[in-house]
Amino acid sequence: DAELTLRPKFLADYIGQKQIKDQLSVYLQAAKQRNEALDHVLLFGPPGLGKTTLAVVIANEMGADIKTTSGPAIEKAGDLVALLNELSAGDILFIDEIHRLPKSVEEVLYSAMEDFYVDIVVGQGETAHAIHFPLPPFTLIGATTRAGMLSAPLRDRFGIVEHMRFYPVSDLKLIAERSADIFDMSIAESGAVELALRSRGTPRIVNRLLKRVRDFAQVDGKQTIDEIAVNGALNKLQVDDRGLDENDLKYLDTLIHQYKGGPAGVNALASNIGEDAETVEEMIEPYLLQIGFIQRTPRGRQATAEAYAHLHIPYQTGLA
Ligand code: ADE
Repeated sequence: DAELTLRPKFLADYIGQKQIKDQLSVYLQAAKQRNEALDHVLLFGPPGLGKTTLAVVIANEMGADIKTTSGPAIEKAGDLVALLNELSAGDILFIDEIHRLPKSVEEVLYSAMEDFYVDIVVGQGETAHAIHFPLPPFTLIGATTRAGMLSAPLRDRFGIVEHMRFYPVSDLKLIAERSADIFDMSIAESGAVELALRSRGTPRIVNRLLKRVRDFAQVDGKQTIDEIAVNGALNKLQVDDRGLDENDLKYLDTLIHQYKGGPAGVNALASNIGEDAETVEEMIEPYLLQIGFIQRTPRGRQATAEAYAHLHIPYQTGLA
């Protein structure tokens, strides 16, 4: 589908995250020269920044097959062993949301990552015994929204750890132009910039909004997507001029009005807006922190003067 065609296939097509690309290109080249599997890679960062895309790019660059799964999908050690059993030398196993692997599965992964074997216990009671099961050298790529959620023994087994950051507007603009080109759409520079400004530093959002803007433009008979077309469509989608959507605004509004700007605990805040704390911490807060609308303090979340200004609420310190 279109979503897949938008994803870059090689490092050279991947826009932004320059530091990560520069490092990876060395590690890829070195592994290829030695004819070895790439060392295990941990990618962490907020959703939508391209962790899965990068895993596929790494596989393409290595000329390797990639098998994709996710932490919650692997319930038992046997599920993991079945996946590992299908790997050939140099293949890549991609585990999204790797912080959500059950502990019993995680423990099987340690020997698989470190020494390419698993010990499987078969039988019960008196007849229980371990079978030593060698694996081909493979590359595990794990993705997680926050490295802190991974246990230390698992984190320590990744030789390559890359922290993905929100994209600057200049990169998001290039992504908008690239995607428009793939969709055979005409986009003006002003349109691409406006889209970039309102995409919360996130390529997935650029592409999602671009599709909606395309729908509006098409129905309105517009040939070229300019700033006016983007503004019109995004206002209808209730995405504001900083890219904040209904959830973001509800969060800020609650923090400011119910908690006098904070500090407020994430659990209380989350239940107030009808989300779970994990969603708030992974999907809402990272961008608000990035743009300086909230701060994390030891006593909880606090709205900044910038957040008050954005919501047109007078800011007075010392109220809480
Ligand atoms: N589409 C989504 N993310 C992208 C990226 N980082 N580079 C190019 N195209 C993309």
